[in-house]
Amino acid sequence: KRVAIFISGGGSNMVSLVDDMTGDHPARPCLVLSNNADAGGLAKAAARGIPTAVVDHRPFGGDREAFQAALRAELDKAAPDILCLAGFMRVLTASFVTPWRGRMLNIHPSLLPKYRGLHTHARALEAGDAEHGCTVHEVTPELDEGPILGQARIAVNPGDTPDSLAARVLVQEHRLYPAVLRRFAAGDRTPVAL
Ligand code: GRF
Repeated sequence: KRVAIFISGGGSNMVSLVDDMTGDHPARPCLVLSNNADAGGLAKAAARGIPTAVVDHRPFGGDREAFQAALRAELDKAAPDILCLAGFMRVLTASFVTPWRGRMLNIHPSLLPKYRGLHTHARALEAGDAEHGCTVHEVTPELDEGPILGQARIAVNPGDTPDSLAARVLVQEHRLYPAVLRRFAAGDRTPVAL
């Protein structure tokens, strides 16, 4: 299986996925794409010999369809079987997502269905949650809504701040996403629980 990974920033989740796709893993990375030319993850991908691409969303203004057409053009060249969003910070509409239904994953830093959208750590603290975590799900046109493929849970500690919580969740993301992709690439949709 060929896997394309979309990033917008440091790409630590992308690195975790790429570094796990070795040996008997049924998938290999074929493209790392970012909407941000300055994304630190692009250099990490290039250092690992993975083809990279940049599709800057800004020239397209509010024309999401044109931006998504440019994304599709890059995917047509790379011909991936699976698309992983990993810290990708642009909303993708149904016209992009629907053809990828069942072949597109995302990692979200909350225990979905709680806290869809942004600022998940601050919201969990605000709510006084005893536990928090991250979720890998299949991508559907509704934001952060698709079938759950795995979750990792951590305890919220007294004195946690959004940053301290985010740092501990990120460690779990780096465990969860590779575990889910290994199963998913092998055709197994049994949810991972960490
Ligand atoms: C992190 O906040 C992570 O929780 C979310 O995307 C952000 C950047 O991750 N999934 P990465 O280091 O670019 O993978």
